Amino acid sequence: MSYQCPLCHQPLTLNEKQWRCPQNHQFDNAKEGYVNLMPVQHKRSKQPGDSPEMMASRRRFLDGGHYQPLRDRVAQLLDEALAAQADTFLDIGCGEGYYTTAVASRLIHNRVITVFGLDVAKVAVRNAAKRYHNAQFCVASSHRLPFADQSVDAIMRIYAPCKAEELYRAVKPGGFVLTVAPGPRHLYQLKACIYSEVQLHTETDEQLAGFQLIRSETLAYPMALCGSDAFDLLQMTPFAWRATEEMGVAIKNESVFSCETDFVIRLHQRQSDDRAFVPSADIA
Ligand SMILES: C[S@@+](CC[C@H](N)C(=O)[O-])C[C@H]1O[C@@H](n2cnc3c(N)ncnc32)[C@H](O)[C@@H]1O
Ligand SMILES: [Zn+2]
Repeated sequence: MSYQCPLCHQPLTLNEKQWRCPQNHQFDNAKEGYVNLMPVQHKRSKQPGDSPEMMASRRRFLDGGHYQPLRDRVAQLLDEALAAQADTFLDIGCGEGYYTTAVASRLIHNRVITVFGLDVAKVAVRNAAKRYHNAQFCVASSHRLPFADQSVDAIMRIYAPCKAEELYRAVKPGGFVLTVAPGPRHLYQLKACIYSEVQLHTETDEQLAGFQLIRSETLAYPMALCGSDAFDLLQMTPFAWRATEEMGVAIKNESVFSCETDFVIRLHQRQSDDRAFVPSADIA
């Protein structure tokens, strides 16, 4: 299984350093090993996705191991769910590849499978491809996946936007979508530094049209962060937009910053085509 041309939807093949479709649309394979499959006409802004600064904070924070329990759990759940014959896995909004590479190591152990990571932010994809070599990375939007209909065994979505209709199109019948979303108390103490009144994340019952929710679980644990790790955590979240410079300095000066995590992990299974399918709205 390989990429599909974002312009004419035919298969792309790699010739030396270029991906090419039968209609001769061409996409360069960058020296770091990723491909940019985002035609300019599909771009909504000049630099879509997370900024280089957010990406750098996220990489430092993740390298600190604070989200390793989440990484281990999603890799385990996917390894248990996917059949031995599964051959294609995709991480959408993969960022700098922290989860993609761990899932790849785990899945590759028992299968002949290609693992793809996709993100709209070029800087994130470049960094992912530079560091991790057990997955293939591309720049593309999760709203237009560069994969053929019913060609992917499972898609993972950790805090990234998506479109249920597009997930349904790309996933094989019986295949899976694993999602991670914040639970009510996720990063409560970080929010308390920024908002005078903290609103708990409201628990919404995530529904993906055409999929059946087959498992839902919470992973919650406390973190004891040093000031600079807490500051990176702030910078990699949307809360950074609300924080003043003084708030940032105060967080950085903490010797120990205690903060709760609260993740909701869900596994959805794609129904077969004969079931009624009602397309749903985008999921932010
Ligand atoms: C909060 S980050 C999560 C990154 C990674 N999954 C993680 O948890 O470390 C969300 C990611 O989604 C990407 N993103 C935003 N809009 C996107 C889109 N339309 N298609 C693909 N990726 C998108 C951002 O660039 C960013 O890397
Ligand atoms: Zn083409």
